Amino acid sequence: MEHINSYMCRYKNYNFAVSLTTAEHLDSLQSFEVRDSDIYLVTYPKSGTIWTQQIIICICELDGVLNEYPNNLEQMPWLEYTEGRADYSLRPSPRFFATHLTPPFMPRGLMDKKAKIIYVTRNPKDNLVSYYHFSSAFSGLQTPKSFDCFFEDYLAGNIPGSSWFDHIREWHSKKDEYNILFLTYEDMILDLKSAVTKICSFLGKKLSEAAIDQVVEKSTFKTMKKDFKANYEFLPKEKLKGNFMRKGQIGDWKNIFSAAHSERVDKLLQEKLGDLSLKFIWE
Ligand code: A3P
Repeated sequence: MEHINSYMCRYKNYNFAVSLTTAEHLDSLQSFEVRDSDIYLVTYPKSGTIWTQQIIICICELDGVLNEYPNNLEQMPWLEYTEGRADYSLRPSPRFFATHLTPPFMPRGLMDKKAKIIYVTRNPKDNLVSYYHFSSAFSGLQTPKSFDCFFEDYLAGNIPGSSWFDHIREWHSKKDEYNILFLTYEDMILDLKSAVTKICSFLGKKLSEAAIDQVVEKSTFKTMKKDFKANYEFLPKEKLKGNFMRKGQIGDWKNIFSAAHSERVDKLLQEKLGDLSLKFIWE
Protein backbone atom coordinates (compact mmCIF):
# COMPACT_ATOMS: atom_id res chain seq x y z
CA MET A 1 0.00 0.00 0.00
CA GLU A 2 1.35 3.35 -0.96
CA HIS A 3 0.40 6.11 1.48
CA ILE A 4 -0.82 9.20 -0.36
CA ASN A 5 -1.76 11.29 2.69
CA SER A 6 -3.17 10.70 6.16
CA TYR A 7 -6.59 9.82 4.70
CA MET A 8 -5.80 7.90 1.55
CA CYS A 9 -3.61 5.07 0.33
CA ARG A 10 -3.25 3.39 -3.04
CA TYR A 11 -2.93 -0.20 -4.13
CA LYS A 12 -2.77 -1.41 -7.73
CA ASN A 13 -3.78 2.01 -9.01
CA TYR A 14 -6.92 2.23 -6.85
CA ASN A 15 -7.42 4.61 -3.91
CA PHE A 16 -8.67 3.43 -0.52
CA ALA A 17 -9.43 5.29 2.68
CA VAL A 18 -6.64 4.48 5.13
CA SER A 19 -6.86 1.67 7.70
CA LEU A 20 -9.82 -0.03 6.07
CA THR A 21 -7.96 -2.73 4.23
CA THR A 22 -4.56 -4.25 3.49
CA ALA A 23 -2.70 -5.36 0.37
CA GLU A 24 -2.69 -8.94 1.68
CA HIS A 25 -6.42 -8.94 2.12
CA LEU A 26 -7.03 -7.44 -1.32
CA ASP A 27 -4.77 -10.03 -2.90
CA SER A 28 -6.52 -12.82 -1.04
CA LEU A 29 -9.83 -11.83 -2.66
CA GLN A 30 -8.61 -13.22 -5.97
CA SER A 31 -9.04 -16.73 -4.62
CA PHE A 32 -12.01 -15.93 -2.36
CA GLU A 33 -14.33 -18.90 -2.65
CA VAL A 34 -17.47 -17.74 -4.41
CA ARG A 35 -20.73 -19.61 -3.92
CA ASP A 36 -23.34 -19.81 -6.68
CA SER A 37 -25.89 -18.28 -4.29
CA ASP A 38 -23.71 -15.23 -3.45
CA ILE A 39 -25.00 -11.77 -4.31
CA TYR A 40 -22.52 -8.92 -4.82
CA LEU A 41 -23.62 -5.29 -4.87
CA VAL A 42 -21.08 -3.13 -6.68
CA THR A 43 -21.09 0.66 -6.72
CA TYR A 44 -18.86 3.67 -6.96
CA PRO A 45 -19.21 5.42 -3.54
CA LYS A 46 -22.39 7.47 -3.07
CA SER A 47 -24.34 5.88 -5.89
CA GLY A 48 -27.16 4.35 -3.84
CA THR A 49 -25.36 1.44 -2.16
CA ILE A 50 -27.34 1.36 1.08
CA TRP A 51 -30.58 1.84 -0.84
CA THR A 52 -29.99 -1.13 -3.14
CA GLN A 53 -28.73 -3.05 -0.12
CA GLN A 54 -32.10 -2.51 1.56
CA ILE A 55 -34.00 -3.61 -1.57
CA ILE A 56 -31.98 -6.83 -1.94
CA ILE A 57 -32.29 -7.64 1.76
CA CYS A 58 -36.04 -6.97 1.83
CA ILE A 59 -36.59 -9.15 -1.24
CA CYS A 60 -34.66 -12.05 0.28
CA GLU A 61 -36.36 -11.56 3.64
CA LEU A 62 -39.81 -11.84 2.07
CA ASP A 63 -38.61 -14.82 0.08
CA GLY A 64 -37.85 -16.38 3.47
CA VAL A 65 -34.19 -17.11 2.84
CA LEU A 66 -32.49 -14.75 5.29
CA ASN A 67 -30.65 -15.36 8.50
CA GLU A 68 -31.17 -12.56 10.99
CA TYR A 69 -28.45 -9.96 11.45
CA PRO A 70 -28.77 -6.82 13.59
CA ASN A 71 -28.49 -4.43 10.65
CA ASN A 72 -27.94 -4.21 6.89
CA LEU A 73 -24.20 -3.69 7.25
CA GLU A 74 -23.84 -6.99 9.08
CA GLN A 75 -26.25 -8.67 6.70
CA MET A 76 -24.28 -7.38 3.70
CA PRO A 77 -20.69 -6.65 4.80
CA TRP A 78 -17.96 -5.07 2.67
CA LEU A 79 -15.86 -7.46 0.69
CA GLU A 80 -12.74 -5.29 0.74
CA TYR A 81 -12.61 -3.95 4.28
CA THR A 82 -10.88 -5.75 7.10
CA GLU A 83 -12.33 -3.84 10.06
CA GLY A 84 -14.55 -6.13 12.14
CA ARG A 85 -14.33 -8.78 9.46
CA ALA A 86 -15.39 -12.32 10.31
CA ASP A 87 -14.45 -15.44 8.38
CA TYR A 88 -16.94 -15.28 5.51
CA SER A 89 -16.36 -18.90 4.60
CA LEU A 90 -18.28 -19.73 7.78
CA ARG A 91 -21.28 -17.63 6.85
CA PRO A 92 -24.46 -19.47 5.92
CA SER A 93 -25.82 -19.07 2.39
CA PRO A 94 -27.06 -16.95 0.84
CA ARG A 95 -24.22 -14.50 1.41
CA PHE A 96 -24.40 -10.85 0.43
CA PHE A 97 -21.44 -8.54 -0.12
CA ALA A 98 -21.15 -4.86 -0.95
CA THR A 99 -18.08 -3.53 -2.68
CA HIS A 100 -16.68 -0.46 -4.40
CA LEU A 101 -13.93 -2.50 -6.05
CA THR A 102 -13.17 -2.64 -9.76
CA PRO A 103 -13.02 -5.90 -11.77
CA PRO A 104 -9.28 -6.61 -11.35
CA PHE A 105 -9.78 -6.95 -7.57
CA MET A 106 -12.85 -9.18 -7.74
CA PRO A 107 -12.80 -12.89 -6.87
CA ARG A 108 -11.97 -14.88 -9.99
CA GLY A 109 -14.75 -17.34 -9.16
CA LEU A 110 -17.30 -14.72 -10.22
CA MET A 111 -16.33 -15.37 -13.81
CA ASP A 112 -18.21 -18.67 -13.63
CA LYS A 113 -21.20 -16.34 -14.08
CA LYS A 114 -23.25 -18.14 -11.47
CA ALA A 115 -23.07 -15.78 -8.49
CA LYS A 116 -24.95 -12.55 -9.15
CA ILE A 117 -23.65 -8.99 -9.35
CA ILE A 118 -25.81 -5.88 -9.22
CA TYR A 119 -24.05 -2.72 -10.37
CA VAL A 120 -25.63 0.64 -9.60
CA THR A 121 -24.57 3.89 -11.29
CA ARG A 122 -25.58 7.43 -10.42
CA ASN A 123 -25.18 10.48 -12.62
CA PRO A 124 -21.75 12.01 -11.88
CA LYS A 125 -23.02 15.47 -10.94
CA ASP A 126 -25.30 14.24 -8.16
CA ASN A 127 -22.73 11.61 -7.26
CA LEU A 128 -20.06 14.28 -6.84
CA VAL A 129 -22.30 16.44 -4.65
CA SER A 130 -23.32 13.51 -2.48
CA TYR A 131 -19.66 12.51 -2.08
CA TYR A 132 -18.70 16.10 -1.25
CA HIS A 133 -21.21 16.29 1.61
CA PHE A 134 -20.33 12.83 2.84
CA SER A 135 -16.63 13.71 2.92
CA SER A 136 -17.38 16.41 5.48
CA ALA A 137 -19.54 14.10 7.55
CA PHE A 138 -17.47 10.91 7.61
CA SER A 139 -14.40 10.88 9.84
CA GLY A 140 -12.52 8.42 7.61
CA LEU A 141 -12.49 10.88 4.71
CA GLN A 142 -10.61 14.12 4.28
CA THR A 143 -12.92 17.10 4.85
CA PRO A 144 -12.81 19.10 1.60
CA LYS A 145 -11.21 22.55 1.84
CA SER A 146 -13.91 23.86 -0.49
CA PHE A 147 -16.36 22.60 -3.07
CA ASP A 148 -13.93 23.63 -5.82
CA CYS A 149 -11.11 21.60 -4.27
CA PHE A 150 -13.32 18.55 -4.00
CA PHE A 151 -14.57 19.07 -7.56
CA GLU A 152 -11.00 18.95 -8.89
CA ASP A 153 -10.13 15.89 -6.79
CA TYR A 154 -13.27 14.10 -7.99
CA LEU A 155 -12.57 14.76 -11.65
CA ALA A 156 -8.95 13.65 -11.22
CA GLY A 157 -9.97 10.56 -9.20
CA ASN A 158 -7.89 11.72 -6.21
CA ILE A 159 -10.37 10.34 -3.68
CA PRO A 160 -11.10 6.90 -2.23
CA GLY A 161 -12.77 4.90 -4.99
CA SER A 162 -10.54 6.68 -7.55
CA SER A 163 -12.22 7.93 -10.71
CA TRP A 164 -15.98 7.59 -11.19
CA PHE A 165 -15.34 7.61 -14.95
CA ASP A 166 -12.87 4.71 -14.75
CA HIS A 167 -15.17 2.74 -12.45
CA ILE A 168 -18.03 2.96 -14.92
CA ARG A 169 -15.82 2.13 -17.89
CA GLU A 170 -14.13 -0.81 -16.21
CA TRP A 171 -17.39 -2.44 -15.14
CA HIS A 172 -19.19 -1.80 -18.42
CA SER A 173 -16.29 -3.15 -20.44
CA LYS A 174 -16.27 -6.39 -18.41
CA LYS A 175 -20.01 -6.92 -18.43
CA ASP A 176 -19.88 -10.06 -20.57
CA GLU A 177 -17.54 -11.73 -18.10
CA TYR A 178 -20.00 -11.65 -15.23
CA ASN A 179 -23.61 -12.42 -14.38
CA ILE A 180 -24.45 -8.77 -13.87
CA LEU A 181 -27.46 -6.48 -13.72
CA PHE A 182 -26.90 -2.76 -14.36
CA LEU A 183 -29.24 -0.30 -12.68
CA THR A 184 -29.20 3.44 -12.22
CA TYR A 185 -30.03 5.47 -9.15
CA GLU A 186 -32.20 7.70 -11.31
CA ASP A 187 -34.29 4.81 -12.65
CA MET A 188 -34.81 3.73 -9.06
CA ILE A 189 -35.99 7.21 -8.10
CA LEU A 190 -38.30 7.53 -11.08
CA ASP A 191 -39.87 4.08 -10.79
CA LEU A 192 -38.92 2.21 -7.65
CA LYS A 193 -41.45 -0.57 -8.23
CA SER A 194 -40.06 -1.40 -11.62
CA ALA A 195 -36.48 -1.40 -10.21
CA VAL A 196 -37.56 -3.74 -7.39
CA THR A 197 -39.28 -6.02 -9.92
CA LYS A 198 -36.13 -6.09 -12.07
CA ILE A 199 -33.93 -6.96 -9.08
CA CYS A 200 -36.41 -9.61 -7.99
CA SER A 201 -36.40 -11.31 -11.35
CA PHE A 202 -32.59 -11.09 -11.67
CA LEU A 203 -32.30 -12.78 -8.27
CA GLY A 204 -34.72 -15.45 -9.43
CA LYS A 205 -37.25 -14.63 -6.71
CA LYS A 206 -40.94 -14.97 -7.37
CA LEU A 207 -42.62 -12.51 -5.05
CA SER A 208 -46.33 -11.70 -5.14
CA GLU A 209 -47.47 -8.25 -6.18
CA ALA A 210 -48.24 -7.49 -2.52
CA ALA A 211 -44.75 -8.58 -1.45
CA ILE A 212 -43.17 -6.38 -4.12
CA ASP A 213 -45.23 -3.46 -2.84
CA GLN A 214 -43.96 -4.19 0.64
CA VAL A 215 -40.33 -4.08 -0.56
CA VAL A 216 -41.05 -0.76 -2.28
CA GLU A 217 -42.59 0.66 0.88
CA LYS A 218 -39.63 -0.45 3.02
CA SER A 219 -37.18 1.07 0.54
CA THR A 220 -38.60 4.56 0.12
CA PHE A 221 -36.38 7.36 1.40
CA LYS A 222 -38.95 8.25 4.04
CA THR A 223 -39.29 4.73 5.47
CA MET A 224 -35.61 3.89 5.23
CA LYS A 225 -34.64 7.05 7.07
CA LYS A 226 -36.54 5.77 10.11
CA ASP A 227 -35.39 2.16 9.78
CA PHE A 228 -32.55 1.65 12.26
CA LYS A 229 -31.39 -1.49 10.44
CA ALA A 230 -31.09 0.35 7.14
CA ASN A 231 -30.26 4.02 7.80
CA TYR A 232 -26.70 3.56 9.11
CA GLU A 233 -27.40 5.63 12.19
CA PHE A 234 -26.06 2.59 14.03
CA LEU A 235 -22.55 3.78 13.09
CA PRO A 236 -20.77 5.44 16.03
CA LYS A 237 -21.37 9.20 16.19
CA GLU A 238 -17.63 9.89 16.17
CA LYS A 239 -17.44 8.17 12.77
CA LEU A 240 -20.40 9.83 11.09
CA LYS A 241 -21.44 13.38 11.96
CA GLY A 242 -24.15 13.67 9.31
CA ASN A 243 -26.50 11.23 7.60
CA PHE A 244 -26.13 8.57 4.95
CA MET A 245 -29.75 9.39 4.16
CA ARG A 246 -29.14 13.02 3.25
CA LYS A 247 -31.51 14.21 0.48
CA GLY A 248 -32.06 11.29 -1.85
CA GLN A 249 -32.90 13.31 -4.94
CA ILE A 250 -32.00 13.74 -8.58
CA GLY A 251 -30.72 17.22 -9.47
CA ASP A 252 -29.28 18.43 -6.15
CA TRP A 253 -26.14 19.32 -8.15
CA LYS A 254 -27.99 22.37 -9.45
CA ASN A 255 -27.86 23.87 -5.96
CA ILE A 256 -24.08 23.99 -5.92
CA PHE A 257 -22.68 23.62 -9.45
CA SER A 258 -21.89 26.68 -11.54
CA ALA A 259 -22.43 26.55 -15.31
CA ALA A 260 -18.67 26.05 -15.63
CA HIS A 261 -18.70 23.04 -13.27
CA SER A 262 -21.50 21.49 -15.26
CA GLU A 263 -19.73 22.02 -18.58
CA ARG A 264 -16.52 20.47 -17.24
CA VAL A 265 -18.37 17.32 -16.22
CA ASP A 266 -20.23 17.15 -19.56
CA LYS A 267 -16.97 17.49 -21.45
CA LEU A 268 -15.15 14.84 -19.43
CA LEU A 269 -18.11 12.50 -19.69
CA GLN A 270 -18.00 12.83 -23.45
CA GLU A 271 -14.24 12.36 -23.58
CA LYS A 272 -14.06 9.41 -21.21
CA LEU A 273 -17.32 7.54 -21.74
CA GLY A 274 -18.79 9.01 -24.93
CA ASP A 275 -18.32 5.75 -26.83
CA LEU A 276 -20.38 3.72 -24.33
CA SER A 277 -23.65 5.47 -25.26
CA LEU A 278 -24.82 5.61 -21.66
CA LYS A 279 -27.81 7.77 -20.91
CA PHE A 280 -27.93 9.88 -17.77
CA ILE A 281 -30.90 11.54 -16.14
CA TRP A 282 -29.91 14.91 -14.66
CA GLU A 283 -33.10 16.20 -13.09
P1 A3P B 1 -27.57 12.09 -1.20
O1 A3P B 1 -26.30 12.40 -0.48
O2 A3P B 1 -27.64 12.77 -2.55
O3 A3P B 1 -28.80 12.33 -0.39
P2 A3P B 1 -24.39 5.32 -0.79
O4 A3P B 1 -25.31 4.42 -0.08
O5 A3P B 1 -23.79 4.70 -2.02
O6 A3P B 1 -23.37 5.92 0.12
O7 A3P B 1 -25.26 6.53 -1.39
C1 A3P B 1 -25.84 7.47 -0.53
C2 A3P B 1 -26.85 8.27 -1.32
O8 A3P B 1 -28.01 7.47 -1.58
C3 A3P B 1 -27.31 9.50 -0.55
O9 A3P B 1 -27.57 10.51 -1.54
C4 A3P B 1 -28.61 8.97 0.08
O10 A3P B 1 -29.50 9.98 0.48
C5 A3P B 1 -29.16 8.15 -1.07
N1 A3P B 1 -30.18 7.20 -0.64
C6 A3P B 1 -30.09 6.27 0.33
N2 A3P B 1 -31.27 5.64 0.46
C7 A3P B 1 -32.12 6.19 -0.44
C8 A3P B 1 -33.50 5.98 -0.77
N3 A3P B 1 -34.24 5.08 -0.15
N4 A3P B 1 -34.05 6.74 -1.75
C9 A3P B 1 -33.31 7.65 -2.41
N5 A3P B 1 -32.00 7.91 -2.13
C10 A3P B 1 -31.43 7.18 -1.15
